[in-house]
Amino acid sequence: APSVPASVLSVVPVMPVVVAHRVEDAVQIARALVAGGLPAIELTLRTPVALDAMRAIADEVPEILLGAGTVLTPGHAKQALDAGARFLVSPGATPSLLAGMADTGLPFLPGTATVSEVLICLEAGITEMKFFPAEVSGGAPYLKAIASPVPEARFCPTGGVTPANAPTYLALPNVGCVGGTWLTPPALVEQQDWDGITALARAAVSLAEA
Ligand code: 3PG
Repeated sequence: APSVPASVLSVVPVMPVVVAHRVEDAVQIARALVAGGLPAIELTLRTPVALDAMRAIADEVPEILLGAGTVLTPGHAKQALDAGARFLVSPGATPSLLAGMADTGLPFLPGTATVSEVLICLEAGITEMKFFPAEVSGGAPYLKAIASPVPEARFCPTGGVTPANAPTYLALPNVGCVGGTWLTPPALVEQQDWDGITALARAAVSLAEA
């Protein structure tokens, strides 16, 4: 079985969140991200082809760390595991969803937006989580404010994160990486401009290094 990282937040500074409408697009996007220095992908379970796309990426681009996003139920978690996912991301954190994701044995980032949700995750032994939807939930100032009372929790803020605000998040001690869809604009995918996606990935890596 492919290896699973101890820390999902420490693999890439920017986690590409991808909504794929065609299997072949998903494979090309995965290749383009790897070429640009981002060997990880959160492929969302939001389209009918998502699970097939995960299987294709697992087969054809094994060097990318493949994650499933938009995991809403324990059933989704199991389907993603079977399709080759190596980590899971959810937008929320209900007790049954946390249990279902834990049952897969994969690392996972539950979605949180309040201190109580963060504490529910910490009580379950989960210290890495998604902060979603980041910008409208208080953004970087919110994460900064909770770093002192709950320093054990580390986040991947996602939702409204852009190249302009990503550095502010990445500078926080409780942020491991940020997530966003800006690496795969629908227009570039439509034009099959995979080099354009590689360029956006490169830019994301260098903004994180700056
Ligand atoms: C997610 O599921 O994480 C969001 O859809 C991210 O979307 P955005 O980067 O376009 O805000």
